[in-house]
Amino acid sequence: MSGAGIDLSLLAEQTRRLQGASLSQINLDDPARVSDFALRVGPLYASFARQSYDRQAWQALLALARDADLVGAMQRLVDGEPVNVTEGRAALHTALRGEVSGSPTARAAHADALRARARMCAMVEALAATDVTDIVSVGIGGSDLGPRMVVDALAQPDAPAVGRMRPRVHFVSNVDGAAAQRTLSALDPRTSAAILISKTFGTQETLLNGGIVRDWLANDSRLYAVSANVQRASDFGIDPERILPMWDWVGGRYSLWSAVGFPIALAIGFEAFEALLAGAAELDAHALQAAPEANLAVWHALTAVWNRNARHAATQAVLPYDERLKLLPNYLQQLVMESLGKRVKLDGAAVAGDTVPVWWGGPGTDTQHSFFQALHQGTQIVPADFIGTIRCDHPYLENHAALLANLLAQTEAFANGQDSDDPHRVYPGDRPSTLLLLDALTPHSLGMLIALYEHSVYLQSVLWGINAFDQFGVELGKQVANRLLPALKGDGDAEDPVTRALLVEIRNRT
Ligand code: F6P
Repeated sequence: MSGAGIDLSLLAEQTRRLQGASLSQINLDDPARVSDFALRVGPLYASFARQSYDRQAWQALLALARDADLVGAMQRLVDGEPVNVTEGRAALHTALRGEVSGSPTARAAHADALRARARMCAMVEALAATDVTDIVSVGIGGSDLGPRMVVDALAQPDAPAVGRMRPRVHFVSNVDGAAAQRTLSALDPRTSAAILISKTFGTQETLLNGGIVRDWLANDSRLYAVSANVQRASDFGIDPERILPMWDWVGGRYSLWSAVGFPIALAIGFEAFEALLAGAAELDAHALQAAPEANLAVWHALTAVWNRNARHAATQAVLPYDERLKLLPNYLQQLVMESLGKRVKLDGAAVAGDTVPVWWGGPGTDTQHSFFQALHQGTQIVPADFIGTIRCDHPYLENHAALLANLLAQTEAFANGQDSDDPHRVYPGDRPSTLLLLDALTPHSLGMLIALYEHSVYLQSVLWGINAFDQFGVELGKQVANRLLPALKGDGDAEDPVTRALLVEIRNRT
């Protein structure tokens, strides 16, 4: 892998040529765009017709995809080559959900994954046979956000499973003790079990919260762990029989498909968990096999690069019009920004242009009544991914029609705007968006959606020539916090004068 990154000057040319061309005009001039700039993969439909590139700019983007050898990059990923070059590791999340590669490395990883999944299935069944009604899942970052989001999207805690209710799953992540207190105070340890999830089993938050939950539970037989460091988990007091494995070749933020998804399997059932994996595997096959011009992951990645490097958008919104996907923006913030928040290329040289924008968002229609004003009339243009679900699973059809009407209306209003004699009432339009529509929100379609973002992130990293799989940027703050902890407890002081003054302030008021 060269890691050179694409030649951004080619995008600047397209930006110059398109200066003054409005998004609405591009669509009016080229009516076939509506169908030509849309793709369907199984239950997932995507429309890019409201992005600000025309056909010529799109061809330029596809040329960049060829230059960057995105097809070869996908193959290297699934074959288990060490795409995480700074740590010399593979990133084989695809092997957790299917056998998309025949490489010996990928096959061995898939076999490991199947063995772990079989153990996890047995644990789900064993727990189902007990009187456990509540599960406390302790983890943070990639050991929390994915399971938390999927459980929130798919679990129906009140729906009776076969003859019994599924356990409710609660998540504790923040080192703020209020998180553990709020969760545990509502639960009964006699009918609860806990899972401590940490790839390293060295994360401060998880060790502290894990200790609180272990002591609260006071029942070792209901304490589980998921970790790549079985020794540390067992030293923590967890029976190795109840420790599920993880491996170096799975990045934390790409790990919900592994035993990190144990809380998901408990909340939605093992079959549904497997359907989630099958959905991701379907998207994997598509991302690997479809030609770049018909490849949804490539389209999504090129669109991100277009908005960042040709349109210089500083932020990117993600707006799920489905209450069940309200945690998707939180999940994507780690997936996208921890992966792509990099300023040097694989060879250590500075990147030529900007990499990841700030990702943020929230569910429609709530957000229409909070920050949409700025999106419509503010001075910053914020490209948005709108996500909707065609069929709902509730009986309130009038609400669902209103939800979809709002979804379509916003994408249209963003793109076309509206003129007025009164400057306060002018909507400038030209706000680009992508629309992702799921036929219905199911484990399968959600698996596809998540895998789409994973592959888009990886392909963006290839286009920028950066490593999507390390996260050294989060280490410094952890080190400083570890140094300051004794001072906060009254032992020693800080070297930094500002921190020292702040410590005095805190001590005086404690
Ligand atoms: O935030 C940094 C990070 O290392 C993430 O990449 C990871 O998902 C999270 O901490 C938790 O790490 P662990 O699973 O090892 O506890």
